Amino acid sequence: MGHQGNDIRITLIGAGTIGLSFAAFHLSHLSSPSQLTILDTRPDLEEYVRSTLPKFFPDAPISHVTLSNSLPDAVRNASIIQESGSENLPFKKSIWAEVEKHAPQDTLLWSSTSGIPASQQTADMQDKTRLLVVHPYNPPHMMPLLELVPSPQTSADVLTRTQEFWRTRGRVPILLLKEMTGFVANRLAFALLRESIHLVNEGVVNVEELDRVVETSMGPRWAIAGPFKSYHAGGGAGGLEGFFKNIGGTVQKCWDDTGKVNVGEVWEESIFRQAKEQYGVVDLGERDRITKRILDTVEKEKNNE
Ligand SMILES: NC(=O)c1ccc[n+]([C@@H]2O[C@H](COP(=O)([O-])OP(=O)(O)OC[C@H]3O[C@@H](n4cnc5c(N)ncnc54)[C@H](O)[C@@H]3O)[C@@H](O)[C@H]2O)c1
Repeated sequence: MGHQGNDIRITLIGAGTIGLSFAAFHLSHLSSPSQLTILDTRPDLEEYVRSTLPKFFPDAPISHVTLSNSLPDAVRNASIIQESGSENLPFKKSIWAEVEKHAPQDTLLWSSTSGIPASQQTADMQDKTRLLVVHPYNPPHMMPLLELVPSPQTSADVLTRTQEFWRTRGRVPILLLKEMTGFVANRLAFALLRESIHLVNEGVVNVEELDRVVETSMGPRWAIAGPFKSYHAGGGAGGLEGFFKNIGGTVQKCWDDTGKVNVGEVWEESIFRQAKEQYGVVDLGERDRITKRILDTVEKEKNNE
């Protein structure tokens, strides 16, 4: 069964925030919408997909997509199955054991999980070589990154076919060599979040000002160059080494003083309140529109168009 061409058949399990965003991505890349199946147990699936999918993909050809609430039917002919269901281990374990009974033998099995390693999800499977985590950065119909996190059992062939799939669609699959809590992107983002909370909690700036600092400095910079490239550039002719020679002392003092904050502590009340008062309900349409323009511009400029 093909994984790249016209005969590819993709089944998405779970049609929530992530599942429907993936649906939008695949619909804009498949030759025909009939190659996509969406499986979800929600009773209002059809109405929900009709009203929600167009937010990610305005003219989505929904009537040609197969909507299903039967797992055996939904996976029987699939060449790729991406699971974006509930984030809990018993669910993931049981769904994969079930999928394995009904899907063809060479079907690629991907989980969108933010934190449950493939090696735990495969616990009840006969063949543990087929599954890996393919972790998107929300929203996946827009963000180029996919973190590929195999378990020690995942086969090299499954991994190669997965990398190939995303590369040929212009995406950026990054392979993680170890199963690591939170993977890479979220760990980086959560480190910044921890320090952000610390700085607000210390009364240095408020929630809005902290956000403005990020939006007007490292936010735009990091769309162009990550932290290593940025600070390598920042060190001038000496590169990253020069950077640490120049201001390594300040870096060390900041690291020594890094804020230790914990979930559930007293900072929550004030910071949650400030976020609510400042932002209410965030407009995701605006987020997506501007994100797309930034990503398009960066890609064009890097390709010298
Ligand atoms: N939201 C994010 O920012 C984000 C980012 C990356 C990865 N993820 C991961 O993606 C997965 C989905 O997250 P989400 O935010 O889209 O969740 P969600 O709650 O929005 O969607 C989950 C969907 O799964 C469906 N579902 C539940 N049981 C099912 C079953 N037995 N069969 C089929 N469908 C079933 C639910 O009806 C729901 O529509 C999670 O594992 C999460 O960790 C989320």
